[in-house]
Amino acid sequence: MNIDHEYRTDISSGWNRKHILGLQDLSRDELNIILNQASEFKRLAAIGETKLTPLAGTVVANLFFEPSTRTRISFGLAAKRLSADTVDFSASGSSLSKGESFVDTAKTIEAMGVSYVVVRHKTPGAPQLLAQHLDANILNAGDGTHEHPTQALLDIFTIREHFGKIEGLTVTLVGDILHSRVARSNIWGLKKLGAHVIVCGPTTLIPSEISKLGVEVSSNLDDVLPRTDCLNLLRIQFERQRGHYFPSIREYAHLFGMNKQRINKAKENVLILAPGPINRGVEITPDVADGPHSIILGQVSNGLIIRMACLYLLHLQRTASLGTPG
Ligand code: CP
Repeated sequence: MNIDHEYRTDISSGWNRKHILGLQDLSRDELNIILNQASEFKRLAAIGETKLTPLAGTVVANLFFEPSTRTRISFGLAAKRLSADTVDFSASGSSLSKGESFVDTAKTIEAMGVSYVVVRHKTPGAPQLLAQHLDANILNAGDGTHEHPTQALLDIFTIREHFGKIEGLTVTLVGDILHSRVARSNIWGLKKLGAHVIVCGPTTLIPSEISKLGVEVSSNLDDVLPRTDCLNLLRIQFERQRGHYFPSIREYAHLFGMNKQRINKAKENVLILAPGPINRGVEITPDVADGPHSIILGQVSNGLIIRMACLYLLHLQRTASLGTPG
């Protein structure tokens, strides 16, 4: 089979965006192009076609200025599956400690022949800054509390794969909405694709203006659980919090943690997602995390093909803009 030909279907026609910085920027059509391209890569993987060649001869740089397990490894593997060379940067041990700026560091790495830059940074807007200063195509791998577009795309892909649709589903995001880039990206993406989105958590962890995004707001998980199709359990972002938002972890787990008793009150086919890393016993008990409703490891697997799709689409844009064959 000529795989190079097979994956260049018309799925990607209509894509001309240079960067993927957030789901706020993307249209419904663009979201569907990414999701459909990911489906195509998943289909190819299922028939054993795991090593594809479109990015051969290009370099993808992973610039992680914050810790990561899932995003970093899956972007690295996605690039390799598409035959790109990869370079990995970690802030610790770099020349940042000698006073080099963020942009100068990125430009230095770009000068080694890098075409695609994956960046995670604690500062909201850091990927946009690189998009302004570099020629490379930029992929946001999480910027502070702002957006984490590929996490939301893999969440949405996983939900769509399970239910066969997004339109009309009720998705409840539970927990630390205030500090969650995953929540923001999920809200933009899910709303554009026609889901009803509920945000649920302690009132102190829900931004006051969030209802302007068209979401329902609740502080009572037991109230919203019976009409929820998917629960996305967000981690309490202790590292971003600058105060006490609830009296104790025990109380949080009692009010907002997903456990066996709550599963019994939920829809029979409720789907449990968590972007991870998970705090077992806080937002989810181990029996639920490892139980039949949980799709947490499936999300991780889908992260790989979502990131392949994103890299591939940016590659198509790049080659088209340079006038070279994709
Ligand atoms: N969900 C997520 O972004 O996980 P990592 O921090 O491990 O990349």
